[in-house]
Amino acid sequence: MDHRFKRWRSFAGALLLLTLLVVVVVSAQSDPFPQSTLRPKGDFALMVDKLFRTTLFWATLVFVLVEGALVFVIFKFRGKPDDPEPKQVHGNTMVEVIWTAIPALVLAMIAVPTVRTIFRTYEIPKGDGVLRVEVIGHQWWWEFRYPELGLTTANELHVPVGRTVALKMVTQDVLHSFWIPQLAAKRDIFNNRSTTLWFKAAEAGDYPGQCAEFCGLEHGRMAFQVIAQASDDFDLYVGRMQATGGPVAATAVADTGAQLFMMKGCIGCHSLDATKPMGIGPNLAGIGRRRYIAAGWLEDTDANLAKWIQHPQGVKPGVMMPELGVTEAEALALVAFLRQH
Ligand code: CUA
Repeated sequence: MDHRFKRWRSFAGALLLLTLLVVVVVSAQSDPFPQSTLRPKGDFALMVDKLFRTTLFWATLVFVLVEGALVFVIFKFRGKPDDPEPKQVHGNTMVEVIWTAIPALVLAMIAVPTVRTIFRTYEIPKGDGVLRVEVIGHQWWWEFRYPELGLTTANELHVPVGRTVALKMVTQDVLHSFWIPQLAAKRDIFNNRSTTLWFKAAEAGDYPGQCAEFCGLEHGRMAFQVIAQASDDFDLYVGRMQATGGPVAATAVADTGAQLFMMKGCIGCHSLDATKPMGIGPNLAGIGRRRYIAAGWLEDTDANLAKWIQHPQGVKPGVMMPELGVTEAEALALVAFLRQH
């Protein structure tokens, strides 16, 4: 046996083993790919997934038949040393008709469901049961408004399971693209017209989303979470958000934080009341209970929040939030204050 072949074979063996290992490790986790479009968890995503599988089916069929025929012909009709010159031919109408008709048919099998699905994605769901949400893209965070509930929030979109959500999206600055892989497809957003997207989450859970259009320095850190909840939990959330802006329990450190919130100018950009949108910086009502801060970039821990307040330009260079010369003690007081909201 050829030396090179042996080496290649052991390399292929090692590669196979490694692949198997990765598959085993990965599938042992509950949902190792929360941002995979291949695990649809909502009606919109399922529709797109079905189209993908249809296309994949036809592509696989064509690949297997064509490559199979090619390999068969290569071996069956391979030349031997004393073969005579084969018969010379030119053109075959029948064969040409067949190889035009079959691909045309296959393309039709793909094109019809594709066009149908594209049109369906643009049908905006209407009716009383539909929850309307306005999405506003900012460099580099997401604003969500529920016009019927009078609520505004940022980077965390709570929705009830089993209820259709209709999004109307615009941007405040440059182009962004709204993408929740497991629930809905990706759609660009513009500042001179609105685009739409809709979805219905089939099961409760956290679904990460991401800006999918390069929009500047921190494009990669422009993420968000969709939190699909049972309808009771969603109502609780709405009630809590509607109550923000009211009085909060006073403690010495939180009082200091409250003063700093005004003195340092935080209040100039951030509302702490979900019923009062401001539109400059993210609305901070409910910040104490969010999973992440800085648009999905850091977990919402006290240490991270303090770091973010103290050094926004270190955490996300180029972000609108300026360095305000906050000391560590001041940052902790601000954290204590924000935790009450
Ligand atoms: Cu916004 Cu990329």
